[in-house]
Amino acid sequence: MHRRLIVPGALASVLLLAVPASAASPAPGAPGIGDPYYPASGNGGYDVSHYDLRLTYRPETDRLEGTATILATATQSLSRFNLDLGLDVREVRVDGRPAVSVREGEQELVVTPARPLAEGRPFSVVVRYAGKPSEVSIGGWTAWHRTPDGGVAAQEPESAAWWFPSNDHPLDKATYDVSVAVPDGSQAISNGVLVSQRSRLGWTRYTWRSDRPQASYLATLAVGRFDITTDTTANGLPVLNAYSKDLGADAGAARASLERTAEVAEWLTEVFGPYPFNALGGYVPNVTSGYALETQTRPFYSPRQFANGANVSVVVHELAHQWYGDSVSVRGWKDIWINEGFARYSQWLWSEREGEGTAQELADWVYAQHPEEDPFWTVLPGDPGPERQFHLAVYDRGALALQALRNEIGDEDFFAVLKGWPAEHAYGNADVGDFVRYAERVSGRPLAGLFHTWLYEPRRPAAPAAAGAGI
Ligand code: ARG
Ligand code: ZN
Repeated sequence: MHRRLIVPGALASVLLLAVPASAASPAPGAPGIGDPYYPASGNGGYDVSHYDLRLTYRPETDRLEGTATILATATQSLSRFNLDLGLDVREVRVDGRPAVSVREGEQELVVTPARPLAEGRPFSVVVRYAGKPSEVSIGGWTAWHRTPDGGVAAQEPESAAWWFPSNDHPLDKATYDVSVAVPDGSQAISNGVLVSQRSRLGWTRYTWRSDRPQASYLATLAVGRFDITTDTTANGLPVLNAYSKDLGADAGAARASLERTAEVAEWLTEVFGPYPFNALGGYVPNVTSGYALETQTRPFYSPRQFANGANVSVVVHELAHQWYGDSVSVRGWKDIWINEGFARYSQWLWSEREGEGTAQELADWVYAQHPEEDPFWTVLPGDPGPERQFHLAVYDRGALALQALRNEIGDEDFFAVLKGWPAEHAYGNADVGDFVRYAERVSGRPLAGLFHTWLYEPRRPAAPAAAGAGI
């Protein structure tokens, strides 16, 4: 499940010259999928449809081992291809036959099958691997949170290479079966539905299924000692929340927040349309880092999110991403505004509904926090650059852009856009330009100027005043 990056015309013709369309002779797949922000992310030449991970994890030693089976289709005639993985590989098979695999750098595994793969051909890759995720460093950072009782893979824009081999970019989504054995008394949490939990010989194996297309950074694994609560929504979807047993004083606030998950999702369904996945929930491991992440169906929440009492707003943010980010994903990481601007704006809408300030009031307040000379206004939410991908401005100026849109086209069209977009691109990828054109189509107005002002100019625009409010 993979759509190509749109390459600007001039560059496209250069690429076409470099690779004649008639070339049927097998060639290596590219070591990156073509995202200018992260050239090593993902790989070229194939498209994954499914990952099956069967793993064992030992919390005391942080040792992870097992087998990944990847079902893919060649999108070109392939002599070899890359996977993204930081752990040690013992054996690789392609279509059942032993393949040669060589590590290149921190993240790339180059796999040469016994015979080339023809374009359009489905193939399987089996990777037997092992290692300590806490010892994996890629570009000097880690997506693995070691905890006193285990570990957690949750990071953006990448986390997969710390725990499984993948085509690690949102352009190549796939379904997942994740099965992890842990010592009795520990739990393994992942995405989607818990389809089975079986104990024998001192080990308990948790098997999870995520049956809708999922980006690799949205796959998560958490092992630790958790309290698990389960429920079913009015629509019959399973809800499963997991709380580390070691949350201390944050435990009550964490529960008081995550227990609102089904209610928040129901409200978001009114705003964004049908919930796109097969399960709901969240988990709070005993990590020390402070962020939250919209891991598909089951967001990751740092306990620090609940240090000042219940925080339903962060639940709103991560659940809004299930539509804006998870079902409709970025085409490239420069499109991050489509995730964060909308998730932030949904927090403003929640505040409006809760009577804690309207979106307009919050927009005015945020705008006033940042005077003209604040470097905040030099960040371009529509193309912030990899270093500033998660800058506050992508969130807050990004949400201001939506308030400006709302004031320009009026509530009826604005909410039609918010609900129509996730249906238009469900389970796919889209970019900022697609959104601008979509909003123009729904509202029947030219909006390129408004979005240029709010997303692409390195200065403070005029305040997004309510129509006729004249501030
Ligand atoms: N998408 C996440 C959120 O907005 C952001 C995670 C950013 N990662 C980080 N290390 N700060 O909830
Ligand atoms: Zn977010």
